[in-house]
Amino acid sequence: MSNWQELESKYFMHTFERVPVTLVRGEGARVWDENVREYLDFVGGWAVNSLGHCHPAVAGAVTEQVHTLIQTSNQYYTIPQVRLAELLVQNSCLDKVFLCNSGAEANEGAVKLARRYGQRHRNGAYEVISTFSSFHGRTLGMVAATGQAKHQQPYVPLPAGFVNVDYNNIEAIKAATTEQTCAVILEPVQGEGGVNLPDDDYLKTVREWCDRTGMLLILDEIQTGVGRTGTLFAYEQYGIEPDVMTLAKGLGGGLPIGAILAKDEASVFVPGEHGSTFGGNPLACAAAYATVKFILDNDIVGNVQKVGQYLINGLEGLRRQFPLITDVRGRGLLIAVEFNSDIAGSLLTACLERGLLVNRLKPNALRLMPPLIIGNNEVDQAVSILGTALSAVAD
Ligand SMILES: Cc1ncc(COP(=O)(O)O)c(C=O)c1O
Repeated sequence: MSNWQELESKYFMHTFERVPVTLVRGEGARVWDENVREYLDFVGGWAVNSLGHCHPAVAGAVTEQVHTLIQTSNQYYTIPQVRLAELLVQNSCLDKVFLCNSGAEANEGAVKLARRYGQRHRNGAYEVISTFSSFHGRTLGMVAATGQAKHQQPYVPLPAGFVNVDYNNIEAIKAATTEQTCAVILEPVQGEGGVNLPDDDYLKTVREWCDRTGMLLILDEIQTGVGRTGTLFAYEQYGIEPDVMTLAKGLGGGLPIGAILAKDEASVFVPGEHGSTFGGNPLACAAAYATVKFILDNDIVGNVQKVGQYLINGLEGLRRQFPLITDVRGRGLLIAVEFNSDIAGSLLTACLERGLLVNRLKPNALRLMPPLIIGNNEVDQAVSILGTALSAVAD
């Protein structure tokens, strides 16, 4: 254990199961540890480093902004904030933006917005339906929305007003809908809960049900948004439009930022009803603007589609070679590989020893979320390392 890791265990709350590596530098899809060992990064800061590490477009925008204006209060107008909001609105189906600092905060704000909408338009309805295996964040409210016992049980009693139902089951949403329901919140593809894909008509039928009942559909695109699944936003692939969408993770190209986007009709906050000290600060907004602009100007979603398919093909090749792989699934560059036993931990270590960073999604599954700018070379290298790691673990 390095000195830094000993110090961490002395001073830091033990909330993270860390991999025993201390990263000190990153460039593109590569990172280096304190011993100057190089790794190919297929974790990407948990789907955050959309343009890779220290991308010149992001680094340049941040450097310029850090010498210009870092933070003001939201009592004043600032230009990077307005430019980012305009870019997001012009490239989505939503009309208005609120900026905050993280995914959980964006979802909390979206639920507050839905409750406000319920007060105005649905006789005070306040309940929100979410799904099992979802992940919406770590605040108490979002733990209640997150349909996973391991995240909920340590914190009971949870805030009222959330109902968890089966994913991919429209009847379960219908059965849970009452006069008190104001919204449904869903990840278009469940990320942390397993990279679970929606059935063909699921999102469409949920949209129709929300239209029929007058409830809002909130899409949590915190993990799927900003190009990750091969379109700028995942909803584009399912023929629907949300009333409210939340973003974070990849939006800032590495800097912390979250966003709530809403259609005009759903945008019901009035001054004083919601806010944030740091939300929309010029530094994070300059980084996010540079990230989204680069993605748009350089057809990065086209790259995600091509390289994502190439990665799936490579993983399917491994699956034919190693029957212990039971499933390969995903969209774009959000991919899970599932095994017939709990080998994800040993595989993670075997990959690490060979210079590849991967995420343990479940005891029997790995998740791959590399930067969106990777090419076939990086995929070849990752698939080859995963293959040798599988041989080592399978022995
Ligand atoms: C879909 C989704 N929503 C919300 C969150 C919470 O985001 P944050 O960790 O920035 O609060 C995450 C984080 O993994 C997520 O994947």
